[in-house]
Amino acid sequence: MKRAIVPGTFDPVTEGHLDVIRRASQIFGEVVVAVAESPGKGPLFSHEERVELVRQSTADMPNVGVEPFDGLLVEFAQSRGPSVVVKGLRAITDFEYEFQMNALNYELSNEIETLFIMSPPKFMYLSSSVVKEIARLGGAFSQFVTPCVEEALVRKFGRG
Ligand code: PNS
Repeated sequence: MKRAIVPGTFDPVTEGHLDVIRRASQIFGEVVVAVAESPGKGPLFSHEERVELVRQSTADMPNVGVEPFDGLLVEFAQSRGPSVVVKGLRAITDFEYEFQMNALNYELSNEIETLFIMSPPKFMYLSSSVVKEIARLGGAFSQFVTPCVEEALVRKFGRG
């Protein structure tokens, strides 16, 4: 199995996501970052903006591609041929949610395997939601995101 699919909403992509993508890119020959439309999550950034920010943030990873998707993850994964889904796991709270997602995805297609990469301690607390909250309230958040994402957040919220 040479291809990994790293799915997410990436609203916006953080250094925590990039750590998972980078580590997957060192294990697998090819990584496809699958950016879900996730309309139900009411994302701050448009689908196109999120794809573009992941593209720019992964430009230094030669075997990483970025693609939007708006259907079921298992269908997207199947359409890409043999592949495994790779997701990050930060804490027990993530496990609960991922456990459910994994079971549902297995019901939809038992051909897709999901592997989890555990976040290192420095990213355990990091999420797109907390970064947006800090940015909205005018705090310093540049250490959590790439410069292009920092600029995009400043454009959305203005500087503190
Ligand atoms: O970054 P997120 O929001 O935690 O990622 C969740 C994501 C996008 C991986 C998940 O919501 C997903 O797979 N969405 C696509 C639709 C789907 O397949 N849902 C699972 C069936 S219940």
